[in-house]
Amino acid sequence: MIKIAPSILSADFARLGEEIARVDRAGAGMIHIDVMDGVFVPNITLGLPVVKAVRPYSALPFDVHLMIVDPWKYTAQFVQAGGDYVTFHLEAVNDPAKVIETLKEIRSLGAKAGLSIKPATPASALFPYLEYLDMIMVMTVEPGFGNQKMMPECLAKVQELRAEAEHRGFDILLAIDGGMNASTKEMVWAAGVDMAVAGSAVFGAADAAEMIRVLGGA
Ligand code: DX5
Ligand code: ZN
Repeated sequence: MIKIAPSILSADFARLGEEIARVDRAGAGMIHIDVMDGVFVPNITLGLPVVKAVRPYSALPFDVHLMIVDPWKYTAQFVQAGGDYVTFHLEAVNDPAKVIETLKEIRSLGAKAGLSIKPATPASALFPYLEYLDMIMVMTVEPGFGNQKMMPECLAKVQELRAEAEHRGFDILLAIDGGMNASTKEMVWAAGVDMAVAGSAVFGAADAAEMIRVLGGA
């Protein structure tokens, strides 16, 4: 069984708190929150005040996925706003020392630190950072929008990262993000992920609890 993290990108934003409470009751493992700035990706979603406002609606970990440029300017604030996992994009930071400093900062504030990679970025680009990581989020679509078709070729990166992390003795949660649904779930399980983000599949389902069970393999 894998964890399912519903992405609130596909929720009804007018009733966001209730939507989060609904998927919490339905068996979500974490709440996935997509923050987009219109620069790193061609879409704008939500920011700090929204994360703070919905924090009381669930006791589940908030998995904040930052798709923004210069993420280090905001990572501490997203922890303070209620992020339990704060993940930013490796492609958004070109200085390796800055990547490490930002990951260390997230951990020093008591949160879990994550890096995400876009489809074109190889798994090996993350190898220098494994010791600073609690989570890795392999994008299985181009970040920016929900409800896209999965790029299955990205799933091989999960195995590669798992092998390297195990070999070096690091315990890192491996997640994929994008295109998880009833027809792609077997491929995702076979890739050996710990968690899959699922936005449109969960929020679009008539019965969220049933969908979470189906996608999780319960
Ligand atoms: C895409 C986001 C994803 C997205 C997933 O940029 O990072 O979290 O919401 O949506 P689905 O599950 O619909 O592909
Ligand atoms: Zn996401």
